[in-house]
Amino acid sequence: MTDINDLQTTYLSAIKGAPTLTVLEEIRLNALGKQGEISLLMKTLGKMEPKERQEKGVIFNGIRTQIAAALEERKAKLAAAEMTEKLKAESLDVSLSARGELKGSVHPLSQAQYELTEIFSSMGFHVVEGPHIEDDFHNFSALNIPPEHPAREEQDTFYLPKGEDGETLLLRTQTSPVQIRTMQNKKPPIRVVAPGRVYRSDYDQTHTPTFHQIEGLFIDRNIHMGHLKRCVVDFCRAFFEIPDLELRFRPSFFPFTEPSAEVDIACVRRDGELILGEKGDWLEVIGCGMVHPKVLDNCGIDSTEYQGFAFGLGIERMAMLKYGIPDLRSFYDTDNRWLRHYGFSAFEALMGGAK
Ligand code: DAH
Repeated sequence: MTDINDLQTTYLSAIKGAPTLTVLEEIRLNALGKQGEISLLMKTLGKMEPKERQEKGVIFNGIRTQIAAALEERKAKLAAAEMTEKLKAESLDVSLSARGELKGSVHPLSQAQYELTEIFSSMGFHVVEGPHIEDDFHNFSALNIPPEHPAREEQDTFYLPKGEDGETLLLRTQTSPVQIRTMQNKKPPIRVVAPGRVYRSDYDQTHTPTFHQIEGLFIDRNIHMGHLKRCVVDFCRAFFEIPDLELRFRPSFFPFTEPSAEVDIACVRRDGELILGEKGDWLEVIGCGMVHPKVLDNCGIDSTEYQGFAFGLGIERMAMLKYGIPDLRSFYDTDNRWLRHYGFSAFEALMGGAK
């Protein structure tokens, strides 16, 4: 009997101390497996006298049941512990910082165009557009540009092959033809700006075959140069965000305006840096003038009744000056690193470039 009791105690304590499910399974096989010690013990019952069998049978069964229960209990405990360990090992470290997302940005050209139209809208100008493929009339003749004018030459203008009707169309060299189309379709008062792409056969550090302009046109009764000056001064101060920016109107010539002027803004160059708004030097930014009476008449507007002013400026140039971009060609290089550096977030764009 002591042997049996020893066996029971040994197994129960081995089960209790089993460190892993594998060790526990070994113990189970040693005890209850086909050749296990308890199973063999059970087999001895068959050879016993009925009375002894009855007596021992109860005891052996009790031991077997107890060991089986202890095995189950230990198994559940070890399984739970192993699961906890596993979960711990596989758990997600949520404190890891997220991988940076690649965000798109607003091209400085779009940003500048947005800011320009925003300012002119606030002055009551409407935005209009015109075709990029133009005819000679809208791009040149109606604008009082004579047949011998150098701008018409092939080295400056991209002409399309002659059409079946004998007409040679061209890629517009300026946004000024939108003035003509607007005046042909609308009676004064007119107050429009026309931003868009223009094309010239040119390529160096300050010229690209395509670039952008914004054209302004204001036609009404009793309009004079004072209105033009007020409009241009207010616009430049708003765009460059310099409230007391000094401007200079320099007499110039354009075939479609009379008188014509070029507008310079005050600046200085210090240690290779261009500083806008400080007095010392001048920088040309806008071409403008009073719309030539011939241009009004070409569009069916009575020049004895109506007057107006027009202006045109390069959008890339404005963006380069405002955002400090040194090379015009970089606008068209589609280099993502450049765009990440000079681009604007959509939020900034919405805020009109507010920093
Ligand atoms: N079209 C001119 C150019 O491309 C710019 C310009 C100058 C437009 C004077 C105007 C203006 O409307 O009045 O150089």
